[in-house]
Amino acid sequence: MVLTPLEKASILVEALPYIRRFAGQTVVIKYGGRAMVSEELKEGVITDCILLKLVGIHPVLVHGGGTEIDTMLRRLGKDWKFVRGQRVTDEETMSVVEMILAGKVNKEIVALINKLGGKGVGISGKDANLIEAGKKTLPAAPGEEPVDLGYVGEIIRVNPEIIETMKNEGYIPVIAPIGVGKDGESYNINADYVAGEVAAALGANKLVLLTDVEGILADRNNPSSLLSVVKVSEVPELIRKGIIAGGMIPKIECCVQALKKGVGRVHIIDGRILHSILLEVFTDEGVGTMVVNE
Ligand SMILES: Nc1ncnc2c1ncn2[C@@H]1O[C@H](COP(=O)(O)OP(=O)(O)OP(=O)(O)O)[C@@H](O)[C@H]1O
Ligand SMILES: [Mg+2]
Repeated sequence: MVLTPLEKASILVEALPYIRRFAGQTVVIKYGGRAMVSEELKEGVITDCILLKLVGIHPVLVHGGGTEIDTMLRRLGKDWKFVRGQRVTDEETMSVVEMILAGKVNKEIVALINKLGGKGVGISGKDANLIEAGKKTLPAAPGEEPVDLGYVGEIIRVNPEIIETMKNEGYIPVIAPIGVGKDGESYNINADYVAGEVAAALGANKLVLLTDVEGILADRNNPSSLLSVVKVSEVPELIRKGIIAGGMIPKIECCVQALKKGVGRVHIIDGRILHSILLEVFTDEGVGTMVVNE
């Protein structure tokens, strides 16, 4: 599609009210491993973040990296399993998780931000005690033994000062979802939960979860069954009926928590659409599912 100069100018003018409305506000973006599929899409996400920053909106990125962790575990000949959507994480697996998330994925994102003209700084939840965590216990399902997930963590507290400092000094913070225990041990935490809690601790105005589907679908095999609005009150029923399942469970749980803790707007959107963040922030249509506190 080739735009005329007038069309280009009108697009910029249309964004003006949104820029004015959101200037100075914070948007937490969870960039899921599954949405990190192509170089073009990765660059699109990062360019969107840089543009937000330049117009005075503060993006804070939280990333996942499940696929890269799988690849490395496979290469090391190590088996893994998921129980109720969580990776059972023994000590050796934990060190692989930390190396991949904090060492590789985090630094790749930071390098891309800097290459494209932004100022990215990557940290994990260990830096400045950002994410205090403890061992997560999974209660036994009826008729089953309780599950020991090893080093899977539960967030106890987020100390957002370091993020505030970075964002106010012009940096784009990039957070790897690793928590720190009271003895300095590492915990593996689902990035969706980290994004939700960080958004709440920062008093963010928006939380955007990028994933590899259109949003929450009423029928997972039918992309046109997108639920563009989901009410918090409908969530238990959607989970009970199995409509929301697997990796979508932590996502919706984190949306509900974030809304309860005062985050303004919460969206699950399709990271496979180029510039989906800009479409979400700068247009009224929205792209994906908005979760509302009703
Ligand atoms: N009702 C639903 N609508 C859409 N997707 C659903 C639904 N229920 C379950 N899912 C699944 O949830 C998946 C998204 O969660 P998943 O954890 O796999 O990805 P992610 O969180 O974006 O990436 P990562 O976990 O690597 O950071 C979808 O790909 C889909 O298979
Ligand atoms: Mg996930």
